[in-house]
Amino acid sequence: MGIDICRSDLHVLSAPGKPAEVEMRAQRILLRPVTKADLEDYHKYLFGSPVVMAKYGKGEVKSLCEVENRIKTWTARWEKGDPFSGLCIRDKETGEFIGHVILGHSDVPGTAELAILIRPEYWNQKYGTEALRSVFAYAREILYYPLDGAPFTKIEATARVDNVASNRLLTAFAGAPVAQQYKHGALRNLYKVDLSEARQTAASQHFKKTAA
Ligand SMILES: CC(C)(COP(=O)(O)OP(=O)(O)OC[C@H]1O[C@@H](n2cnc3c(N)ncnc32)[C@H](O)[C@@H]1OP(=O)(O)O)[C@@H](O)C(=O)NCCC(=O)NCCS
Repeated sequence: MGIDICRSDLHVLSAPGKPAEVEMRAQRILLRPVTKADLEDYHKYLFGSPVVMAKYGKGEVKSLCEVENRIKTWTARWEKGDPFSGLCIRDKETGEFIGHVILGHSDVPGTAELAILIRPEYWNQKYGTEALRSVFAYAREILYYPLDGAPFTKIEATARVDNVASNRLLTAFAGAPVAQQYKHGALRNLYKVDLSEARQTAASQHFKKTAA
């Protein structure tokens, strides 16, 4: 199953076996598949930064080599047309590096895991909000793309309970956390967004269009 969308804010061309083309344009930012050319920025401003990593994952900074391996995994997915992968966030006009967001695979078929990291100079200026708005719009456009063999119906994200900005950001898009769990040695809030209804609406609109 392929996806072909071309709008001023979103361009997606994705089919199994062919490199995916994705570009999202928001007010100030542009989101597009991460590439190996982003490696230095990813390491310097995000995964190698103790400030950014403090409440992310295990709280440990990553080496350049570890970041390179992550980027390889994400680019390999884009290359084979998998729309669930890492996106680089840059300033739309200047190309300045802003951050990273991933709507990726999880342990559960049909559920995508969401995570976002913004470069500290840009914190608390609504860049995270702007990026997630684009990613949620994107998610609604790829509802028909199977995720690990199951229909794509859920987005999950976690935030350490002491990560105020992340909890506020996720609550704005997913509502209140549905549970708490210990993961990577810290208590985390679990957020879930159910896309089943959006899938049904999209299906009925598609049916109306084809029937008309
Ligand atoms: C979490 C993160 C992505 C938020 O990005 P951001 O661009 O600063 O977020 P925004 O400016 O869009 O703000 C989102 C919400 O967080 C609040 N916020 C942002 N920074 C804050 C801070 N330092 N203290 C308290 N609240 C803060 C904003 O007020 C806003 O809440 P509101 O909509 O209720 O007013 C960013 O802080 C980050 O990269 N942190 C390190 C990595 C991380 O922990 N990622 C989360 C893992 S999913």
